Amino acid sequence: MVIAMASMTTALAQSGGSYLLRHEKQIDAIIKDMTLEEKIAMLHGKNMFSSEGIPRLGIADVEYADGPFGIREEMEPHSWNSAHLTTDSATFFPTGSALAATWSTEWAYAYGKGMSHEARLRGKDMILGPAINIQRIPTGGRTYEYLSEDPLLSGTLAVYYTRGAQDDGTAVCLKHYALNNQEDYRGFVDVRISDHAMHEIYLRPFEMAVREGDAWGVMAAYNKVNGRWCSENKHLLTTVLREQWGFPGMVISDWGGVHSTVDAVTSGMNVEMPGSRFMGQALLDSVKAGKVSEDVINQRVREILRVRLTVEPIAKEKANRLPVGNDEEMTIALEVARRSIVLLKNDKQGLLPIDTRRVRTIAVIGENAIKTMALGGVGAGVKTRKEITPFRGLRDILGNNVKLTYAKGYKSYERQWGGPSAGNKQQDPVQEADPELVEEAVKVAKSADLVLYFAGNNREVETEGSDRKSITLPSGQDELAEALAKANKNLITVIVSGGPVDVSTVSKVSGALVASWFNGSMGGQALAEVLTGKISPSGKLPMTWPKKLEDVPAYVTGTYPQNMEDNNQGDIFVDLTRNRNNDRRQQLIANYAEEDLVGYRWYDQKKVAVAYSFGFGLSYAKFQYSDLQVKTVGGDFEVSFILTNHSAIDAEEVAQVYVSRIKSSISRPVKELKGFHRVALKGGERQRITIPLRRADLCHWDEASQSWKLEPGKIKIQVGGSSTNLPLHHEVKL
Ligand code: BGC
Repeated sequence: MVIAMASMTTALAQSGGSYLLRHEKQIDAIIKDMTLEEKIAMLHGKNMFSSEGIPRLGIADVEYADGPFGIREEMEPHSWNSAHLTTDSATFFPTGSALAATWSTEWAYAYGKGMSHEARLRGKDMILGPAINIQRIPTGGRTYEYLSEDPLLSGTLAVYYTRGAQDDGTAVCLKHYALNNQEDYRGFVDVRISDHAMHEIYLRPFEMAVREGDAWGVMAAYNKVNGRWCSENKHLLTTVLREQWGFPGMVISDWGGVHSTVDAVTSGMNVEMPGSRFMGQALLDSVKAGKVSEDVINQRVREILRVRLTVEPIAKEKANRLPVGNDEEMTIALEVARRSIVLLKNDKQGLLPIDTRRVRTIAVIGENAIKTMALGGVGAGVKTRKEITPFRGLRDILGNNVKLTYAKGYKSYERQWGGPSAGNKQQDPVQEADPELVEEAVKVAKSADLVLYFAGNNREVETEGSDRKSITLPSGQDELAEALAKANKNLITVIVSGGPVDVSTVSKVSGALVASWFNGSMGGQALAEVLTGKISPSGKLPMTWPKKLEDVPAYVTGTYPQNMEDNNQGDIFVDLTRNRNNDRRQQLIANYAEEDLVGYRWYDQKKVAVAYSFGFGLSYAKFQYSDLQVKTVGGDFEVSFILTNHSAIDAEEVAQVYVSRIKSSISRPVKELKGFHRVALKGGERQRITIPLRRADLCHWDEASQSWKLEPGKIKIQVGGSSTNLPLHHEVKL
């Protein structure tokens, strides 16, 4: 029998407070010994990616590194320019949505550990990640960095990422706290949201990572929430984070995201990054003028020292500044990628796995087959030593047995960078197909046994600082798909993207459809293994793929503000000297009218058909769920069932548990994910799987008492392989 490490296992229950609280006496003594100037020096950026320690007392600076999916290259001390070193490469881990598609706590832990290992080799103390905002819109520029539309999936993986990194000695920095769900106008949008939707959906992953993962760092987001900048939002930074969740660690600003001195420091902000505009001399003056008490300063310094003294400092000169991208980390990247790939469609004729005894020539079409995806997307680019593209992965695995031919098929969208002064104007990725490239691709497709078409986005289409304008495949890829299907009926389409795209055309004309994400240094190898049947696909969608953008709740409710007249998205390059408070912009409000009905919660309730549902993913094996039993254990439940692999193929499956309220005095989503477990079964094997279902996860946020409450009554528990395929159900009373 397998006991699943689901959302919040007893092993994860808080073991008597944060690990950070072991140095309080030492910190008392240090603070006593510090001058006011030394204290203030700790509260703002020193360089682009460091803040000051206490040199006189031998306390090192804090060194930060972007995350979330690879340690970023070194920058010049005071600019965004690369330092052009040859010793600062790193492993490119699969990006957030790919990690989430594994639904694997085990590999989220390994991922965090791998990130930390490389951070330590580069002398970094804090990883600027994981990035755990809820994917509210599929077009979000950073959807690919974020994990999921579901708070439990996001939160659980964030807990394990955090523990993996911090067990290895590097602090995480959960970002972007909070409600940074869009990139367009992220620098001034004001998110208005009800308290319960905020706690149940958007804050929940942060709460879990703080309370159960003991995260040591948090980054305040650029935007406003309910009228207040996140960097001076007392409700978020003090009431919720520190008082309700007991967070003892440090809050840093997003880069250039501070707007005030007194409000920021008294609301709970520890470090202004990367400069000192508000929390340098201005703060010193404010203390001297009696506007901020030294007690507040001492408290902010204490919170930083807790992290500083916990994370073993690696002095810069001592750090092993060798190029990283170790075998160990590459293996983690490979294992994550293997589990992330989602098989969306495989028609009866069974194009997948590719029958390599029969297929002699494969036409590989599309620039995404040969394009590396490690760099791009602004802050989250990774300078990696190695990236196996899909084409390379296929060639390595197929050797000389199968001939691979290639045609580019379309011209990849490349952003025209305007630079800081011109702003960053995101054009619509070119939609027209290039007739010459189509013609060439059709020719190549005609003379092959099988066509592998690589469509999707790239790191310029999905990027920090601006959202996509549509989910249509760029560069005329739909048109190309139709032409390829006419040329060769054996068409397999692989979507390379971080977020959902409109697959109505490619899905119709392709015999098989695969989502393979921005999948890290080893992604091409993992994909080739899946396509050739060396392993079975086992990823499950961490977000819904809607049929069309107009179905998305934020679009239906008209509450995703995107089309401002001046369409200026220039905040991508944060200008550190310019106050971006502009009256008109301050009025830009995003009113989250869909409340807690995000992603599948909305489509369920409104009965909107989607292209591919949350939690969906096919396998080469055949799994059957049977014999559901629900037991009470202490105050919680244990859901158990038999999972049988009715095939000869060894494979992994992600079992999912959803809960619905039979009757409720408050409005509740039709069903919600409350547990999950990835399991490996050999061909023909069956196992009883047990997934804990915690009462805590069945609570709702009670606005009046500002606490989680359990409503008595009946619930329906459903179990299966996706949110829309739940063959088992059982009712219990709370
Ligand atoms: C991003 C953060 C990032 C920081 C430092 C900001 O623009 O929003 O996610 O960590 O830059 O690169």
